Amino acid sequence: MAAPQRVPPVDRPRPVFSRLYARISEGMDAEGLAALRTELLAPLSGTVVEVGCGNGRNFARYPDAVTRVTAVEPEPHLRALATRAAAAAPVLVTVVPGTAEALPVPDATADAAVLCLVLCSLPDRDTALAEIARVLRPGGTLAFLEHGLGPTRRVRAVQRLADATLWPLLAGGCHTAVDPVGLVERAGFAVTALRRLRFPDSRVTLPATPHVLGLARRPG
Ligand SMILES: C[S@@+](CC[C@H](N)C(=O)[O-])C[C@H]1O[C@@H](n2cnc3c(N)ncnc32)[C@H](O)[C@@H]1O
Repeated sequence: MAAPQRVPPVDRPRPVFSRLYARISEGMDAEGLAALRTELLAPLSGTVVEVGCGNGRNFARYPDAVTRVTAVEPEPHLRALATRAAAAAPVLVTVVPGTAEALPVPDATADAAVLCLVLCSLPDRDTALAEIARVLRPGGTLAFLEHGLGPTRRVRAVQRLADATLWPLLAGGCHTAVDPVGLVERAGFAVTALRRLRFPDSRVTLPATPHVLGLARRPG
């Protein structure tokens, strides 16, 4: 008899972070993140997989050309809030449990995938990007809005210090010294559009201030 397969647990409860994020994400949107979400999603069409959808702050901003969104979220409280947001969304959104490292989506079925402030929190980013490549059809689009490595050695040193101390504990496992564009390219995607920006755009540079917003194409 074959040995039973080990299925990793899908739920990743973070009771404190999830409640905090549900509150601060509203403030972040008011501070300018909502406009960046709209810019991120505007080029998309067809069927979309949103990875780590949180409380569903993107749902209201999908353009009409999107026919269906499968939104994957492992945190139970955020998933419940996302399910509520899905009911009010202008496009069809189905919220499902799952992780980026094992997306509950068949091969080559999505026209686009969305990563919005998620890569920083993932324990295995390479596997997650390989999963995204698997579910996208050849030529499909990955839209990403992520914070990452700062532009100077000084900012990067602060980011490494933050990552080694309190930042991941306070921010739901988030790490700031991450190179989203490098990771996307290493996974075989071709970056077709890229904008570097600061969010929030204040005078003080925090470890998560440097952002990238872009599109990448799955080869094939
Ligand atoms: C900073 S929040 C961003 C939420 C949302 N994408 C947004 O734009 O507001 C990070 C999200 O990544 C999710 N996450 C953490 N680990 C994950 C994993 N292994 N797979 C998928 N999502 C994950 C968290 O539960 C959380 O919803």
